[in-house]
Amino acid sequence: MSANDTIDPTRRDFLYVATGTAGVVAAAAVAWPFVDQMRPDASTLAASSIEVDVSSLTPGMSLTVKWRGKPVFIRNRTPEEVKAAQEVALDQLKDPVARNANLPSDAQATDADRSAGKDKENWLVMVGVCTHLGCVPLGHQGDFGGWFCPCHGSHYDTAGRIRKGPAPQNMAVPVFSFISDTTIRIG
Ligand code: FES
Repeated sequence: MSANDTIDPTRRDFLYVATGTAGVVAAAAVAWPFVDQMRPDASTLAASSIEVDVSSLTPGMSLTVKWRGKPVFIRNRTPEEVKAAQEVALDQLKDPVARNANLPSDAQATDADRSAGKDKENWLVMVGVCTHLGCVPLGHQGDFGGWFCPCHGSHYDTAGRIRKGPAPQNMAVPVFSFISDTTIRIG
């Protein structure tokens, strides 16, 4: 899908903003317009971890939460999106390192090691910051159907791995875990 394609409204990213130290999550169906609006407030900085209810995310849907002042993308990938990421050989990757804070630093960027893995490989959790100069990429866009950063044209695949453009690294996977089937703790 190119950057100019129309986005299916049912697959749009939704913005969830974590408020307060308890990590309460409130929903608002708007895009994240400007990096400038991501300056953390004191309550966000204080929230070292947040818990996010992902029960409403059907396959193909994404949401963005705010964690430690940064956007974090959570995507429930479709089987096709997972398969596309699994089929990419590591030698095709610009950055073959998983960049996954839950794994050793030399873990490879296989789909399993970029995602929640095992029986939850459909879930991807990533810090939503382009590794070029820090813009917030757009979901479900770009040449690889993952994310597209319009600032200078970086394309990420459905595992959040950089595939084309100036960004040097895959988007970072933060420390996270499923604390129930429908709740993710980040941090
Ligand atoms: S900041 Fe994303 S491509 Fe430059």
